[in-house]
Amino acid sequence: MKKIVIAIDGHSSCGKSTTAKLVAKELGYGYIDTGAMYRAVTLYFLNHFIDVNDDHGIKLALENIEISFKHNPKTGRNETFLNGLNVEDEIRKMYVTEKVSEVSVIPAVRHAMVKEQQRMGRKRGVVMDGRDIGTTVFPDAEVKVFMTADTYTRAKRRQQELFAKNEMVDLDDIIENLKKRDHIDSNRAESPLRQAPDAEMLDTSFMAIDEQVDFVLEKVATKV
Ligand code: C5P
Repeated sequence: MKKIVIAIDGHSSCGKSTTAKLVAKELGYGYIDTGAMYRAVTLYFLNHFIDVNDDHGIKLALENIEISFKHNPKTGRNETFLNGLNVEDEIRKMYVTEKVSEVSVIPAVRHAMVKEQQRMGRKRGVVMDGRDIGTTVFPDAEVKVFMTADTYTRAKRRQQELFAKNEMVDLDDIIENLKKRDHIDSNRAESPLRQAPDAEMLDTSFMAIDEQVDFVLEKVATKV
């Protein structure tokens, strides 16, 4: 069967990664969480005190950053590695989330990540989730879905994820962070968060995960 690229873009916490993972599993495809890559770069910048305005420091840092994903059969998760170190839990913490959109604005960071994502998906047969997959990374993706949901629903989902990891964060703080990230992600000059003209819009505010997965799989069925 023909292998395709499935691009799932949209706002934070609308179920993109959960949907993308399940679609990948169903199809036997690879799954690439591009947000995790920007989070890993952010963690590196924080750990090495790299200023977002220090062009030289950023260039050197990018030369020293290697990001990979490995499936962990014990947790059933695809985990993120930064220079060989498992950073899957660390990159999801609030102190990284608060900084990630500022780092993702930097053109040099975007160029490096987009290039790497294109390399990872070159053989196709991948589901990639992010903000600019259908517009910039794989504008020729056969299936493109743009997910959104109302802010309150997204914040509640995010809070439950954080609670499950024993991170107690106030709902108002999460709402503020989501709005701030949406604003920065949508207004940056380099590959801003946008619905590609040929992407299907999916509002997940009142949808269950299996309905979201079925929606994507139905689109896939028309392309393979
Ligand atoms: O998907 P997730 O919420 O983990 O992404 C974290 C941040 O990474 C986003 O808010 C955005 O700033 C950035 N990002 C991006 N482009 C992508 C994926 C994520 O700029 N393709």
